Amino acid sequence: MGQTDNPLHSEAQEADRIGPPREEIERLRQVLHQAQRVVALTGAGISAESGVPTFRGADGLWRQYRAIDLATPQAFARDPRLVWEFYNWRREMLAPLKSNAGHLALVELERQVPEFLLITQNIDGLHHAAGSTNILELHGNIWRVRCTECGEVTEDRTLPLPALPTCGTCGGLLRPDVVWFGEMLDTLILAKAYEGLNSCQALLIIGTSGNVEPAASMGLHAKNHGAVVAEINLEPTPQTEAYDISLLGKAGVILPQLID
Ligand code: OAD
Repeated sequence: MGQTDNPLHSEAQEADRIGPPREEIERLRQVLHQAQRVVALTGAGISAESGVPTFRGADGLWRQYRAIDLATPQAFARDPRLVWEFYNWRREMLAPLKSNAGHLALVELERQVPEFLLITQNIDGLHHAAGSTNILELHGNIWRVRCTECGEVTEDRTLPLPALPTCGTCGGLLRPDVVWFGEMLDTLILAKAYEGLNSCQALLIIGTSGNVEPAASMGLHAKNHGAVVAEINLEPTPQTEAYDISLLGKAGVILPQLID
């Protein structure tokens, strides 16, 4: 018998069919409701529903381009024009995109939870655009530029930036204020992230493939410090088994269901 013929068919059953079981969502809702301190860690997956390409999916950025040619200090030293071309292209692509229901649910969660910290690997600025405030950007932000000479960091939304943009203060060559492969993360940002992970009662890990450190280990770190760790992702990740809750599905569909 098809589902539409079944008299017992209900909206609840339909929701279960297309997303994670309701009991699991309810369980996580309760965890979040009772927690004083909650951390969310996001990756490219939360922005996918806004139209931002992920890195490792079928159409992922690193399937089309070699990260080593475009997102390393060596690549920039060798050919800054090419690297800027890539970042100008990404900025043009991101500029019209809007935050989605997943980003907005995290804004609401920040309002509901006494202490809420958002740690993101994303450089797209969509959490800020949605209205989240307590954000740590582990990998920087594509809308900021940093001078390679004097180190000054400024927000710059010019589209496109010149092929080789220069610093308004000292004339030095500007680079995107993002973290490239082989570079250290900002130690202050990392310290604040671990402060949050050490003391949170719940950690939500959303839309990250768990392939890039140190973010990949943050779930286990928080779990070892007593947090309930929940993952929201289209598919399981290498760390899923170690977590307490795994909700498979779209962040933009699941996250709003966690909000009171
Ligand atoms: P990835 O592209 O590696 O992973 C994206 C994850 O999001 C995958 O596990 C997808 O299954 C999941 N996903 C896709 N759409 C989703 C949706 N609508 N809802 C929920 N999950 C969804 O991206 P990251 O893990 O963020 O670093 O990549 C980490 C870092 O690697 C990036 O910050 C970037 C990249 O190289 C640097 O550039 C330094």
